[in-house]
Amino acid sequence: MTSYLDRIGAGFILSKPEVFGFDYIPEKLVGRENEQQKLAEMFIGIGHHEGSGRAVVTGPVGSGKTALVKRFCIDIAKHLNEKRNIKNVHVNCRNASTSSRVMQKIIQDLDPGHPDRGLGVSELLTSLRRMMSNENSHLIVVLDEVDHLLRKSGDDLIYRLLRIDEDSDKIGTLSLIMISQEQVLDLLENAVISRMGRTNHLRIGGYTEEGLFLIAEQRANIGLVKGSFSDQIIKLASQAAAPSGDARQVIELIEGAGKRAEANGRTQIISEDIQNTVVTLPSNVDTLDIEGLPAHCMLLLLGICRRLRRQEFVTSGEASKLYHVVCEEFEQSPKGHTTIWKHIKRLMQSQIIETRTDQLDDGRGRTQHISMPHMLPSDVARRLETLIPARLRR
Ligand SMILES: Nc1ncnc2c1ncn2[C@@H]1O[C@H](COP(=O)(O)OP(=O)(O)OP(=O)(O)O)[C@@H](O)[C@H]1O
Ligand SMILES: [Mg+2]
Repeated sequence: MTSYLDRIGAGFILSKPEVFGFDYIPEKLVGRENEQQKLAEMFIGIGHHEGSGRAVVTGPVGSGKTALVKRFCIDIAKHLNEKRNIKNVHVNCRNASTSSRVMQKIIQDLDPGHPDRGLGVSELLTSLRRMMSNENSHLIVVLDEVDHLLRKSGDDLIYRLLRIDEDSDKIGTLSLIMISQEQVLDLLENAVISRMGRTNHLRIGGYTEEGLFLIAEQRANIGLVKGSFSDQIIKLASQAAAPSGDARQVIELIEGAGKRAEANGRTQIISEDIQNTVVTLPSNVDTLDIEGLPAHCMLLLLGICRRLRRQEFVTSGEASKLYHVVCEEFEQSPKGHTTIWKHIKRLMQSQIIETRTDQLDDGRGRTQHISMPHMLPSDVARRLETLIPARLRR
């Protein structure tokens, strides 16, 4: 019949496409034995019927924080199966960034029929305590990307969760794990880490090329047809992803290359499939360059980003005004025009912004139009808001 569809679903190369999906967690994480060991040590007490644990996990983007914690929660529940009923709720605070949204998510996950509408945080906490006590189970709450919650609603909920057993005769109701990217450590430092205990802070590093190789190899072995890829292909993908240290990138490369080869009717991945996929990846300016910018360059960029959340372009004149507003906010005296211009050039050279020169509408000159095609201005602004105070203190 319609032969142009023949290649779809033929599975020449991708035998299990779901293996490359965001939610897939392999049975065994490769190269993270030390980190797993450390995390387990923080939960040494959980085997006891009144015990609990706490951990804060931080690390760069794609370093496997979420995978590490999800794997741990599954493994520990299985391991203690006979001893204790362990439940787990994973909340991504990017999607639930207020105390009540987080609580609603926890309750809904545990009891989808629970009438939580209109209930306040205190009532939801009481429901949670009752629920766990009735079932005689222990709950591990994971607050992933917790910086979103801290920024929006502060740390109140975290304390209330940690003190859930106060005023009750039971202890050990709940364990708490918080996950966040490394660059917001400042934000976590006072609010969370000092209270959770420094020994409960697990810092994990980005992956090296060798680490990425093992991850790519594992995914390829599970998800691709045997014989459709060589070691060389895995090597190429891990080299390409190495500057980012991001496991997600190496996995996307393997998947992308596999799809490309299939679409071309081949049964084997060749180097060009990897290379052509590399160029489609979003550039890594985000992780590479922002942290190294001088303070005033950050202030300027923050002004630009805030405006670019609502508009596609900012003119250089507007950028300068926005910069002045940001300087006032951070109590800095603004630099002169020449310095602003120098910073704009620097941002252009690092491909953080792009500029286009246009004739002004009234025909009286030219102006620069600044845009940000490679990154989300709201993400960059959020990061700058935590980076700038640290940079200014130095
Ligand atoms: N050691 C590992 N072994 C196998 N797969 C891994 C390993 N580490 C990470 N991965 C995989 O890499 C991808 C990214 O990992 P993960 O989502 O855990 O990163 P993250 O540190 O939480 O990133 P982010 O900061 O963006 O939230 C996932 O698909 C995960 O399954
Ligand atoms: Mg994550």
